Amino acid sequence: MKFKTIEWRGDRVRILDQRRLPQEVRYLDCRDAFSVAQAIRTMAIRGAPAIGVAAAMGIALAANKNPSIQPGPFHKNLEKVCHEMRQTRPTAVNLFWAVDRMERILNCVQADGVEKTKRKLEEEALRIFKEDIEINRKIGEHGKKLIKNGDGVLTHCNAGALATAGYGTALGVLYAAWAEGKRFHVYVDETRPMLQGVRLTAWELRQAKIPVTVLTDSTAGWLMKQGRIDLVMVGADRIARNGDTANKIGTYSLAVLASHHHIPFYVAAPASTLDLQLVSGEEIPIEERAEEEVSHIGGRRIAPKGIKIFNPAFDVTPYHFINGIITEKEIFRKPFEKVLEVVKVQ
Ligand code: MRU
Repeated sequence: MKFKTIEWRGDRVRILDQRRLPQEVRYLDCRDAFSVAQAIRTMAIRGAPAIGVAAAMGIALAANKNPSIQPGPFHKNLEKVCHEMRQTRPTAVNLFWAVDRMERILNCVQADGVEKTKRKLEEEALRIFKEDIEINRKIGEHGKKLIKNGDGVLTHCNAGALATAGYGTALGVLYAAWAEGKRFHVYVDETRPMLQGVRLTAWELRQAKIPVTVLTDSTAGWLMKQGRIDLVMVGADRIARNGDTANKIGTYSLAVLASHHHIPFYVAAPASTLDLQLVSGEEIPIEERAEEEVSHIGGRRIAPKGIKIFNPAFDVTPYHFINGIITEKEIFRKPFEKVLEVVKVQ
C-alpha cells in the first residue's frame, strides 16, 4: 500500500485522517490517548480492525507517558484509559478484543512492575498491528479462489487497507485475486451517510489500479437484475455464534437482494470479529450516530428542520443469507455455529 492507515511513532500515533479523503491525504499526530479516542469517535480512523489497533496503540501511548512509578496509581490511571477506549464505538467487537488484550498485560503490573509493563504494552500493541496485516493476507489467500475472471464484484462501505492495519479483509480478497492475475470489475456502493464507498474504497481501488464503478446505494438491486453482479463481498464489525453478521448499514438490504437474484454473498473477517458469547445477531449493539450525518452534506443542511432522523451505523445480516465467512483459517460454510468456535479457540 502506498499509504499507512496507522503508524506507531514512539511518542505519538500517526493516523491517516479518513474524514479528509480523497481530497486530502493528511495525517493526524495523536500525542495522547484522549486524541486517539477522539479520532476513533469522530471516524478519522474507522473500520473494525483499524479501531482495535488504534485503541491498543492509544493505551500503549498513555502507559509510556504515565509518570507513576507505583503499580497501584499506574494501574488505576490506565484502567480509565481502557474504559475511555471502550466508550468510543459500540458495535465493532475488535475494539473490545484489542482493549482486553492490553488489559490482560496491565493486570500483571503488580508482579511485573511499571517499566516492564510499559514495554509489554507497547509490544502487544505492535503485535496486534502486525498480526492484523498477516491475517488479512491469509484471508485474501483463502478468498481469492471465489473470484473468477470477468466477474462483477459488489462491495459495500470500506473493508480495505483503510479499515485495517493494512491490506484489508473484503478488499484484501480482491487484492489477492488481482495479484494472481485475475481480472474483474468492482462495483462500490457510495454508502450513505458517511460515504466510505465513494470516498475510501474507490480511492483505494483506484490506487491499486483495479477498475471500479461507484453507484448509489439504491442502484445495487437494479444492477443485480441486469446480471452484472456475480458476487457480493463485504466485511464485518461483529459476527455472532450462529453467523449473524453486523456490518455497515445497507449490508442487510444487499444480502436480501443477492439472495433474491441467486448471487453468492460472502463476508470476509478475522477471528477477532467473532463474538461467540452472542447466540445471535439480535444481541449485537448497534451504534446510532448523529442526525447531522444525514441532515447535512458537506456542512450544508439538506433536510428540513423539525423532522426526525434515524441513523443506525450498522445492520445485521441473518446467517442464512451468507454463503460463506472467509477467515484467516479457511472459508466457513453453514452451519456456522460449530466451525466458528473452532477458529476462535485456535
Ligand atoms: O462505520 P465504519 O466506517 O467504521 O464501518 C466500517 C464497516 O462497516 C466495515 O465494513 C467493517 O468494519 C469491516 S472493516 C474490515
